[in-house]
Amino acid sequence: MRGKFITLEGIDGAGKSTHHQWLVKLLREHGEQVVATREPGGTPLGERLRELLLTQPMHLETEALLMFAARREHLDKLIVPALQRGDWVVSDRYTDASFAYQGGGRGLDRGKLEILETWVQSGLQPDLTLLFDVPVEMARARLTTAGNAPDRFEREQQAFFERVRQAYLDRAQREPRRIVRIDATGSLDEIRKSLEKVISSICK
Ligand code: TYD
Repeated sequence: MRGKFITLEGIDGAGKSTHHQWLVKLLREHGEQVVATREPGGTPLGERLRELLLTQPMHLETEALLMFAARREHLDKLIVPALQRGDWVVSDRYTDASFAYQGGGRGLDRGKLEILETWVQSGLQPDLTLLFDVPVEMARARLTTAGNAPDRFEREQQAFFERVRQAYLDRAQREPRRIVRIDATGSLDEIRKSLEKVISSICK
């Protein structure tokens, strides 16, 4: 028996974290055992790596390696044991973020990311990835309204986020069965309705 693995993706400001909390609540109301987690992070060591990743300037390959180091720990300590128990795992970001941010955003060679992906996760892909998609201007406006101090990624220019968004959309096109694009420009209610539809199709 194996639980289901769901990941949430999108550019900063797409509203992913709000939907993450709501989705976890929805699944628990359906009676599922749910482990809510995030990347980079999810374990004590992973959270320390997150702190470095969000604050320290570093080479783009160091950044990619640390993302995957945190992921290795996350899989070993949390994701795989939870799935083996039959729990559901709902993660705010996973490997698609590395392809979108380090690959698309920073221009790191995709082949290198694929090597890390094969090495670190030995084929473990999410059952479902929800891609929260909004135009970059809207995402940036939301970040400004939220008013939190921007981290190292959130301080990037508009062109960076255009590349990240495009990389996500390209992945969604290549893997339409796993990655579902959610139009996240609408109201919370509208987005929740589309989420309920997608989730009920995988709850069967
Ligand atoms: P994010 O979920 O946006 O955190 P918060 O909502 O608290 O700001 O994630 C932090 C950042 O990490 C985000 O800007 C994207 C970046 N990131 C990568 O660049 N590569 C990765 O592989 C992952 C998992 C995240």
